[in-house]
Amino acid sequence: MVDLALPRSMTADHQVPILPLMASQLSYATAAGTWVGPIDLTIGQAGVTVVLGPNGAGKSVLLRLLHGLLEPTSGTVTWNGRRLDRDIRLRQAMVFQSPVVLRRSVAANLRYALRIRGYRGAALHERVETWLNHADLIEQARRPATVLSGGEKQRLAVARALCGRPDVLFLDEPGANLDGASIVAIENLLRGARDAGTKLVLVTHDLNQARRIADDVVFMVAGQARERAPAAQFFEQPQTPEAKAFIEGRIVL
Ligand SMILES: Nc1ncnc2c1ncn2[C@@H]1O[C@H](COP(=O)(O)OP(=O)(O)OP(=O)(O)O)[C@@H](O)[C@H]1O
Ligand SMILES: [Mg+2]
Repeated sequence: MVDLALPRSMTADHQVPILPLMASQLSYATAAGTWVGPIDLTIGQAGVTVVLGPNGAGKSVLLRLLHGLLEPTSGTVTWNGRRLDRDIRLRQAMVFQSPVVLRRSVAANLRYALRIRGYRGAALHERVETWLNHADLIEQARRPATVLSGGEKQRLAVARALCGRPDVLFLDEPGANLDGASIVAIENLLRGARDAGTKLVLVTHDLNQARRIADDVVFMVAGQARERAPAAQFFEQPQTPEAKAFIEGRIVL
């Protein structure tokens, strides 16, 4: 298990919790239809919330709305009662299915993420080394990030998202297209972050991964949060026919 019990960033604002994250009547619609919502959802203090649901259910749109990449067409997202601002932006991060890396070295990707969060000098250097180590990227540190393999890129994307020790990390299918060993490596990074107090909100299609890592589950169908439950309860006693079908691997319409 990686030890992430390192000091949080230093701003005074950092003392104020940004959770709970609350969606109120949150919706996203285009001329072609309503894709998400209205959703009421509170994401509390700790652990791993896994978002499950069939293709097209609105999981990625919901994550983008919560993260602030998409503006809701109605309803609100608040962070401990506050609207998204620069401080909150820097205290949450997102990892995508196709890893996004900057066109510079692996180490420089981490340095960039730390600089914009106020790290300088020895503290910055120490953080870069620590996270190259956690992500098993020491050997690759000086290579351009763009030449990394898919699994290495995703480890870098997760490390870059976690190195500033965010309060919240959103992940949209971070294990898709990765082999078993890469998935285990990423899950270990995520468990370390969770144990150090980072709230994780994870979209996955991998039910085994969900069973391994979820503390609670949001189950989406057709833009709605159809079910919300502690993970054990969701998997053992799903309340809706759609959730039951989904867990059993049958198709949900
Ligand atoms: N800007 C947009 N214009 C039109 N349709 C959109 C737009 N954004 C999202 N959608 C639609 O919203 C629906 C939900 O998409 P979303 O990507 O959130 O699904 P998902 O649950 O993440 O599915 P998957 O499991 O396949 O990733 C889809 O039908 C998608 O086509
Ligand atoms: Mg998606």
